[in-house]
Amino acid sequence: MDQVAAMVLAAGKGTRMKSALTKMLHPLLGLPLLSYPLRTLRELNIDRQVVVIGSGGQEIMDFFNDWPGLSFAWQREQKGTADAAAAALTGLEGFSGNVLIVCGDVPLLRAKTLEELVTRHQQSRSVVSVLSAVLPDGEAYGRLVLDAAGNLEKIVEARDASPAELDIRRINSGIYCVDADFLRQALAGIDCDNAQGEYYLTDMVAEAYQSNRKVIFFDVADPDEIMGINDREQLSRAEVLLADRIRKQWQAAGVTIRFPDLVDIEPEVTIGMDTTIEKGVSLKGKTVVGSGCHLGEGAILQDVQLGDGVDVLPYSVLEQAKVEAGAQIGPFARLRPGTILHEKVKIGNFVEVKKAEIGNGSKASHLSYIGDATVGSGVNIGAGTITCNYDGFKKYQTIIEDGVFVGSDSQFVAPVHIGKNALVGAGSTVTKDVPENAVVTSRSRQTIYPNRGMASRAGKGKE
Ligand code: UD1
Ligand code: CA
Repeated sequence: MDQVAAMVLAAGKGTRMKSALTKMLHPLLGLPLLSYPLRTLRELNIDRQVVVIGSGGQEIMDFFNDWPGLSFAWQREQKGTADAAAAALTGLEGFSGNVLIVCGDVPLLRAKTLEELVTRHQQSRSVVSVLSAVLPDGEAYGRLVLDAAGNLEKIVEARDASPAELDIRRINSGIYCVDADFLRQALAGIDCDNAQGEYYLTDMVAEAYQSNRKVIFFDVADPDEIMGINDREQLSRAEVLLADRIRKQWQAAGVTIRFPDLVDIEPEVTIGMDTTIEKGVSLKGKTVVGSGCHLGEGAILQDVQLGDGVDVLPYSVLEQAKVEAGAQIGPFARLRPGTILHEKVKIGNFVEVKKAEIGNGSKASHLSYIGDATVGSGVNIGAGTITCNYDGFKKYQTIIEDGVFVGSDSQFVAPVHIGKNALVGAGSTVTKDVPENAVVTSRSRQTIYPNRGMASRAGKGKE
């Protein structure tokens, strides 16, 4: 947006969270609280953003240090919102356009609401525009006091309000669009003569009104948007509302979500059309799900990439894995970081895969561990197969070429290389490389002792 900068007030202690972690970094659907207003501002293409930090400031800077267009201003002592805005202005020297002022703890704020605030501000040529809301009960919010003509005269904090003012239902969201030059001038005149002994940013409204400058307010249609997070109950309520929004967005994009209240999808996830998501599924981080996939009950995917038509059966846990089209995983499978499954691979129940690439159409259907391995295409890995990749000091690679058949209960003591189309007999412990098309067995020969079975032992046991 042209000539619009933003300041995000985030220096407060967040005492009511009762936490060692600064309020701004408490996660909501996997992202810290503060990232939500910052994402909203990013949607508006505002390229100058100043975050006012104080409590937990270093952790906040560390977390957001590579966020584009962001700078930080320290407010060492929390003397109130006007003082915080003054700190932010030090990061906007020479700027004389409009400034959006947003609190760091309003995760549900929508970009289009801010856009409308800016548009109304510009069209009305106001010096201050206040985003307001009409609530059934004004709670602890500041109240908007109007004059007889219906113009906004001042904002009164709940703690400073008269009983009549407390009855006002139109409240201050703490979100404003303000002319930068007016803000500089107004902040210089604000004192701390109030119930909290703080410098109130809200006093800029009375300042503008008294000096006959234009002030407007605008009621947000959905008051949830301006909900500020002060404690953990509000945090979880916001998370529920946010999760609901995200699910509806994917439903609108052609994703079937069964029993949606039981599904959580984090904000950076993307999902293709005609994918079906069953109850209890969690999609986290930067997970990408293709189209026509089926995600069974209780599946958990963290930073996973799924191609089209992938079938994830119930209770499978996938992390930092890449899975190509038509693969089938689970139930009860675990894909750990560095797993790459090519097209139509089948990973069955109680199979764990780590740092391994498995070629087209290969199968490991039951009870296996495949770690630090490269498996070709058309390979069948029998039940109970293990890659013994670790000698207590280092990890080693197992390479299994195309078309190999691995009998059940085999172990590969890595490093080891199995040539194309080899056949590994069931129960083998393979310690040396196997040439192409060979059969390998490494189990003791079967011995038969006739007529010494159970029927012959009857009555001969030690009593
Ligand atoms: C503020 C408004 C109130 C409004 C409410 C909306 C004032 C005086 N009051 O009250 O009218 O209804 O927000 O939620 O502005 N902060 C700093 N430094 C400070 C103090 C606060 O950075 O010295 C930050 C906080 O981290 C927070 C924001 O400013 O993100 C709001 O501060 P808070 O103390 O929560 O203000 P409220 O009392 O809720
Ligand atoms: Ca607040």
